[in-house]
Amino acid sequence: MRRWIGKAFCWSAILVSLLGASACSRAPAVLDPHGPAAVQISGLSWLLIGLGTLVYVGVSGFLLAALFRRRQAQRAVGVSRENGGPPIVIWGGIVMPVVVLLIVFGLTLNTLIALSAPEHPDELVINVIGHQWWWEVEYPAQEILTANEIHIPVGQPVRIRLMAEDVIHSFWVPQLHGKLDMIPGQTNTFRIQADTPGAYRGLCAEFCGIQHARMLFLVVAKAPADFVAWVETQRAPAAAPTTTLAEQGQALFLDSTCAQCHAIAGTTAAGQLGPDLTHFASRSEIAAGVLENNRTNLATWITDPQKIKRGSLMPATLLTVTELEALLAYLESLK
Ligand code: CUA
Repeated sequence: MRRWIGKAFCWSAILVSLLGASACSRAPAVLDPHGPAAVQISGLSWLLIGLGTLVYVGVSGFLLAALFRRRQAQRAVGVSRENGGPPIVIWGGIVMPVVVLLIVFGLTLNTLIALSAPEHPDELVINVIGHQWWWEVEYPAQEILTANEIHIPVGQPVRIRLMAEDVIHSFWVPQLHGKLDMIPGQTNTFRIQADTPGAYRGLCAEFCGIQHARMLFLVVAKAPADFVAWVETQRAPAAAPTTTLAEQGQALFLDSTCAQCHAIAGTTAAGQLGPDLTHFASRSEIAAGVLENNRTNLATWITDPQKIKRGSLMPATLLTVTELEALLAYLESLK
């Protein structure tokens, strides 16, 4: 029996250390909050972890005590219950769980109330529309349309209005807020705020098709002055190409299938199916967080997107080496 108990404790220790190790990986961290809402959620998480640990240690203690008592009882004949109080089943099986669950319910309700901030006219409003498998990002007041990267000013509440184009998605930036579903035909909203500048990883938290795991985005929190400068850049139409190669690339873009799915402000390209590319080169990632935005990755993405993201709506584009060079030069000029 002792060997069995030893084994059980060994496995518990291994599981606990694995959980600890996973928290140190590069996965989005709920326990590393960078905004008021995330601080609330992280506080609740720690409380639940503490409560869970207490219950686990308590139950393990009782289990050990019961095993030890049984061994003694086997030796001494005729051992009876020492006191006449209610059996431990009533306290441990009914009273304790009810008390613990009531505490958890109260704490969760309290956090939910703290997170449900009503809309305020001073908030910066950003519409985020979920697509299979990318994020359309619109700043209605600033008249900005972008994708997969949400820029916000540090220390300012931001109203995120969530919608979906095709199926249900879920918006989650663990370091800034909890999850919220994006449902077609419905608008769900919440308020996020980042207290420190940085790039926070966001992801889709609702299974939405084969590329669900590769539907990522970034929330980039920057100093208010930097945010104003970013808005000014993004509001402007795309710059005209300055080199012959980029000019050829633009002509190619406008005459090919690219322009049927993508829009570039200041040109005739006005496609609505894919991400707006007006300031494509200012984004750090392509294919919704799958690849770093550099020349090699972009070339692969344009010539064979299905290799990178099977099932995506982006078709392969057949190009000669010269045509690809021109197209890359043009896209790289869209700062
Ligand atoms: Cu979108 Cu999962």
